Formats: sequence, structure tokens, C-alpha cells
Amino acid sequence: MHGLHRADGESLMKEAAAARERSYCPYSGYAVGAALLAEDGRVYRGCNIENAAFSPTVCAERTAFFKAVSEGVKSFKAIAVSGGPAGDPPAACTPCGVCRQVMAEFCDPESFEVFCLDARGRLRDYLLKELLPEGFGAAALPDGEGE
Ligand code: THU
Repeated sequence: MHGLHRADGESLMKEAAAARERSYCPYSGYAVGAALLAEDGRVYRGCNIENAAFSPTVCAERTAFFKAVSEGVKSFKAIAVSGGPAGDPPAACTPCGVCRQVMAEFCDPESFEVFCLDARGRLRDYLLKELLPEGFGAAALPDGEGE
């Protein structure tokens, strides 16, 4: 564990599992839920939402981030991800590369925590910097640092 206690990670993972029940995944049959913990203690839930045209599909993690940011919340501590074949208990599931990049837009890679289950169902806790080493960010752009 990093900054949060194991119990916090476990309770965030329970919220992610509850969010997973809302997954809309008729094409892949792979259901994902996420629970994003904001700095102020609020939790934003998200699920994956698929589309017949495929590319409009959005992952659970981005649903959670976009819900929070669209409500004016941009400081976050951690996210838990619960995913696997729909109807089955959660399996090992880590965030896709696009979602890692979205996390990097809003979160400190040194302290933001990502909770996932491993293949044995154990809770794993990664720092964002471990999941997205050498990531691209606003600092590389000519006009600087973003907000
Ligand atoms: N998916 C997520 O929502 N989050 C992940 O971390 C991995 C993948 C979704 C996208 C798609 O709806 C389905 O899972 C299969 O890729």
C-alpha cells in the first residue's frame, strides 16, 4: 500500500464492483466499474459504455473522471477498477493506456494510487508513475504547463 490504507482501498474496490453492475457492454461482454476518490472525500463512480459503432465506447475509468471534472472536481487521490467477463466475479483488470493518459492529465504520478485485483483476486496498489512511466504531459508543449 502507498498513501491510503488497505481498508480504504478495499472499500473503494467495493464501490467499483457496485459501479460495474451498471456496465453497458453488449458488444464485448466485458463489464468494468471504477470508483474515483476525490481529494475532498467524494467518490465518483463510472462504468464502461459501449456503442454499436465501437469507437465511441468509453471505459469505466474515463466515465468516472469525466463525471468528476464536469462537476468542477479536479483533485484526486485514488481510483479502484473492477473488471471481467459480464456475469462473472471480477478478474484481473488494469486500466488501458488511454485511461492512464487521462489520469496523468489530472493526477500527480508520484502519489495517485490505482487499485486493481490480480489474477488471484488480491488487491494490488500501483502508483500512476508505475503504470505510465515517462508519460507525455503539458510540460512538453511550447506554451507550457497546462492550467
Ligand atoms: N474497459 C474499461 O472500461 N476499462 C479498462 O480498464 C479496460 C477496458 C472496457 C472497454 C470495453 O468496453 C471493454 O472493457 C472491453 O475492452
